Amino acid sequence: MRFPIIYFFSFLALSSCATDAPPASAISYEELDTATVIASPPPVAGRYHPNDRDKIDRGAYMMELLGCSSCHTNGAFDGEPDMGRALAGSNTGIAFSNPLGEKYPGIIYPSNITPDEETGIGSWSDRQIGDAIRAGVGRHGSRRIVTMPWQGYSQLTDDDVAAMVAYLRSIKPINYRVPKEVAPGKTATSPFIYFGVYRSKR
Ligand code: HEC
Repeated sequence: MRFPIIYFFSFLALSSCATDAPPASAISYEELDTATVIASPPPVAGRYHPNDRDKIDRGAYMMELLGCSSCHTNGAFDGEPDMGRALAGSNTGIAFSNPLGEKYPGIIYPSNITPDEETGIGSWSDRQIGDAIRAGVGRHGSRRIVTMPWQGYSQLTDDDVAAMVAYLRSIKPINYRVPKEVAPGKTATSPFIYFGVYRSKR
């Protein structure tokens, strides 16, 4: 098997918004203390069959183990997660294109993965949720969710994914819309972090 060469840029930077378009190096940033372990919000009675409780508890455990909340919860990147809105998305985004270029990077905001029908994944099928987790196929469809480490989730078993899906359906739906994706070169109105995989062309 051949392994791709991957360069991890191991720094995190938080940008404040700007109106003009100076080079990326002019973006002001600060280092964040992201070392936060986030507990899975509890399932809500009535949203699951009591016979499924073991499966749901396993799903909650998997979510903690795989660090899903650390992106999908507002404030988690800053070390101050808003637990009242756990898993309802983050208004601090993640750069998905090269933040070191001349232009501003493209930015994507970790989505609301509570079962809210309007702003979360309440209307997604089990298959769609599973494909997002294991294959990085998101609502944009055309490209993989590069900023989510789905590669590390791709070997999850069907049972593990089913447990996570059952858990995600059992938690409280929270109506919260994260900021819209920002195209590369455009300025963001919400802060974002640099956290990605980039490879030089030679
Ligand atoms: C490093 C940050 C990060 C981690 C960790 C992470 N995600 Fe994501 N996730 C994202 C981003 C960013 C998106 C894309 C949002 C979009 O396309 O608008 C996303 C999209 C999704 C989607 C598709 C929903 C949608 O509206 O696009 C699901 C489902 C999902 N994540 C579940 C999970 C689960 C379950 C885990 C843990 C196993 C996890 N994520 C871990 C950042 C992350």
